Amino acid sequence: MNAVNWGILATGRIAGTFAAALRELPDARLLAVGSRTAESAEAFAGENGAIRAYGGYADLMSDEDVDVIYIATPHPMHHANTIACLEHGKPVLCEKPMAINQREVREMVEVARQRDLFLMEAMWTRCLPVIRRVGEWIEEGKIGEVRMLSAAFGYRTGWDPAGRLLNPGLGGGALLDVGVYPVALAHMVFGGEPTGVDAAAHIGATGVDEQTAMTLTFAGGGLAQLACAVRTNLNQDARIDGTNGHIDIPIFWRASTATLHVEGEAATVINEPSGYHFEAAEVMDCLRAGRRQSSLMPLDETAAIAHTMDRVRSAIGLRYPMDA
Ligand SMILES: NC(=O)c1ccc[n+]([C@@H]2O[C@H](COP(=O)([O-])OP(=O)(O)OC[C@H]3O[C@@H](n4cnc5c(N)ncnc54)[C@H](OP(=O)(O)O)[C@@H]3O)[C@@H](O)[C@H]2O)c1
Repeated sequence: MNAVNWGILATGRIAGTFAAALRELPDARLLAVGSRTAESAEAFAGENGAIRAYGGYADLMSDEDVDVIYIATPHPMHHANTIACLEHGKPVLCEKPMAINQREVREMVEVARQRDLFLMEAMWTRCLPVIRRVGEWIEEGKIGEVRMLSAAFGYRTGWDPAGRLLNPGLGGGALLDVGVYPVALAHMVFGGEPTGVDAAAHIGATGVDEQTAMTLTFAGGGLAQLACAVRTNLNQDARIDGTNGHIDIPIFWRASTATLHVEGEAATVINEPSGYHFEAAEVMDCLRAGRRQSSLMPLDETAAIAHTMDRVRSAIGLRYPMDA
């Protein structure tokens, strides 16, 4: 495989950001885009330099020259879109959250395994150099045993009950949109699933969580205090406390810096580039090596994160039409 030929499925906000990220990789080519409408596909192709534009997702999936498809539809469509791509023989990078609930994630993973194809949740934070270094610090025991994590991600969106952030039919709410970032960080930091999940939320007028606070308990007594919001700006930093020091990660979900504080030593500051091209490069490395999943965001961990999110939703009484 020389240049990897990407297909992008959907033409919304993050699809454009991802197309721009591909332009940073000399060995990536945006070959084709698929949209629900030909007009949107053509406009997106014109703006982003895609060579082929399809007014229909199935046409994109049927393009024999497309090596891998990036799915950028709202969360409730991830399950059907991913399975359809896999059934057309295409490897998939699917936007976060991978799906509405763990049942859907498991079905997607099962099809990928049956078809022997690559699948990854686009949890791009995991692929950032700063976050990879933080993972190494933890593994090397630099801060001793990890005891506490605090992390939040919240922003204030405008009042649009029909839009995907507040509409239950489009998987609206803070937990699924941005809560997945601190939950995924907790899984990384503590190296597994929580034993206990407590949460409280404000369910707004549209019936989705406008803000949620969570406390996760891990084996050995580790605790994570996490928060997310879509109608309020929150601090977006993470702090990991261990028995021998702590790590600060400003704006952890797109981290470009982190500081390691070890008891009795001078602080170590790292600064690295951030961007979506790191996850695209990870996918291409996996494809070239013949791997079916990424070690940075393994499929069993994506399913475990979805399970934790299901448990949070059960604690706050939040159900979606797709859960039925
Ligand atoms: N990784 C990140 O940093 C990041 C950032 C933002 C969002 N995301 C994730 O990416 C996904 C898309 O988010 P977005 O902000 O790009 O959303 P968006 O701007 O609303 O775009 C979603 C696109 O999905 C397609 N679509 C298919 N069925 C749809 C429906 N029933 N209603 C609306 N759109 C539909 C549309 O493209 P066509 O009309 O071309 O088919 C639409 O443009 C979400 O799962 C979100 O969590 C990730």
